[in-house]
Amino acid sequence: MRPIKIAPSILAADFANFGAECRAVEAEGADWIHVDVMDGHFVPNLTFGPPMVKALRPHVKGVMDVHLMIAPVDPYIDAFADAGADILTAHVEAGPHIHRTLQAIRAAGMRPGVALNPATPAEAVAHVLDLVDLICVMTVNPGFGGQSFIPMEDKIRQLRDMAGDRDIHIEIDGGVTPATSPGVTAAGADVLVAGSAVFKGGSADDPAPYGRNIAAI
Ligand code: DX5
Ligand code: ZN
Repeated sequence: MRPIKIAPSILAADFANFGAECRAVEAEGADWIHVDVMDGHFVPNLTFGPPMVKALRPHVKGVMDVHLMIAPVDPYIDAFADAGADILTAHVEAGPHIHRTLQAIRAAGMRPGVALNPATPAEAVAHVLDLVDLICVMTVNPGFGGQSFIPMEDKIRQLRDMAGDRDIHIEIDGGVTPATSPGVTAAGADVLVAGSAVFKGGSADDPAPYGRNIAAI
């Protein structure tokens, strides 16, 4: 089994103290910092963009994992590269030319990821497996933190099978808690995004105290 990485989502952090929040979770053992970029169009919420990634960069020692919930993606790729993103993930549903987008992300010096909404089948990414370092399986409909986990174990198993011996992370995003993480890791996921479970009181499924031990997720 691949080593499991935990990527706290700063969407659930204190918006007035992002630098300190990132330093704190890295000190507790976070592997990556997950940054949720929303445009009020692809998803019904607004968050932050490249200047935010740039401002956080000096506060984050590890990987900055940037999840774009925006459409279109291509006009913003260079700005996220300049800002210091390490992984840039675009949704397969965000536009008609996902190959071009993933190739442009690689060409800009970042590691490309592709994300799938809960209703999108695994087959939607079959033809881009040679272009990506990461597949993000959404286990909530994107747009908000703190939602309940939608089971996706079958899709995860199918994607791990499709990936074969390629070195591809399978990341789970949405409703990840100590109760939901064992099933997804057993199915083949190796990166767990966790917002509420790390920064807030857990979720409806699994209330957890602020500051929980990240390794327990
Ligand atoms: C949802 C975001 C997630 C979100 C996860 O659109 O992509 O990264 O922050 O939050 P929790 O862990 O609270 O479900
Ligand atoms: Zn996310």
